[in-house]
Amino acid sequence: MPQDLSAVDWPVRTERLSIRPCTIDDLEATWRFRSAPGVGEWLTQAHDDRAEYEERFRDPERMALILVVEREGEIIGDQMLVIEDAWAQVEVADRARAVQAEIGWIIAPDHSGRGYATEAAEGLLGICFDGLGLRRVTAQCFADNVASWRLMERIGMRREEYAVRDALHRSRGWLDAVTYAILADEWRARQPVD
Ligand SMILES: CC(C)(COP(=O)(O)OP(=O)(O)OC[C@H]1O[C@@H](n2cnc3c(N)ncnc32)[C@H](O)[C@@H]1OP(=O)(O)O)[C@@H](O)C(=O)NCCC(=O)NCCS
Repeated sequence: MPQDLSAVDWPVRTERLSIRPCTIDDLEATWRFRSAPGVGEWLTQAHDDRAEYEERFRDPERMALILVVEREGEIIGDQMLVIEDAWAQVEVADRARAVQAEIGWIIAPDHSGRGYATEAAEGLLGICFDGLGLRRVTAQCFADNVASWRLMERIGMRREEYAVRDALHRSRGWLDAVTYAILADEWRARQPVD
């Protein structure tokens, strides 16, 4: 069953951006930047075939994991939000269901370097902690994807793992990977007081 994000009051607005769940109507706009040169370099799947992209995009289970980021009505990026169970001992496993999420991000190259990815990622943490009431959020990338882990650090995430040559890149071979995390109380402590 596709994951349920109905607890959130959509769209979620940040200073300059708006974030909402992806719909089938977002196919063209997301294809435009997902197929741009270089964008797929570090992603789980790179796309240069429109038909293959559409087939994957139309999968309802996958679509439910994607949010789109809009600026003045234009889609400038997308984000991944995968709600997960935490590891738990069997006797308490029911208390560890759907309590955390893994997040990810893409900003269209013609909109990068202007703080939009940072602002959208901060909005995404708000969605996870305030909107969904999760307790922990993680993010992962290849260690060579410096733009991505710098973003994790900018939004207050902590590097929790540096894994040596544990992730296979399609052309670069076995590479190092990093995992970051932030807890709900750590995120709350960073929020400005009204
Ligand atoms: C990872 C990615 C989302 C980062 O996006 P970005 O556009 O570089 O991010 P931002 O604009 O928020 O930040 C970039 C820089 O601009 C700076 N910046 C400029 N204006 C800013 C503002 N108004 N507010 C905050 N930061 C600003 C940031 O401080 C940052 O500086 P740094 O490079 O010295 O750290 C982007 O590189 C991308 O889409 N990559 C391809 C897909 C990908 O690899 N995704 C991750 C897979 S794990």
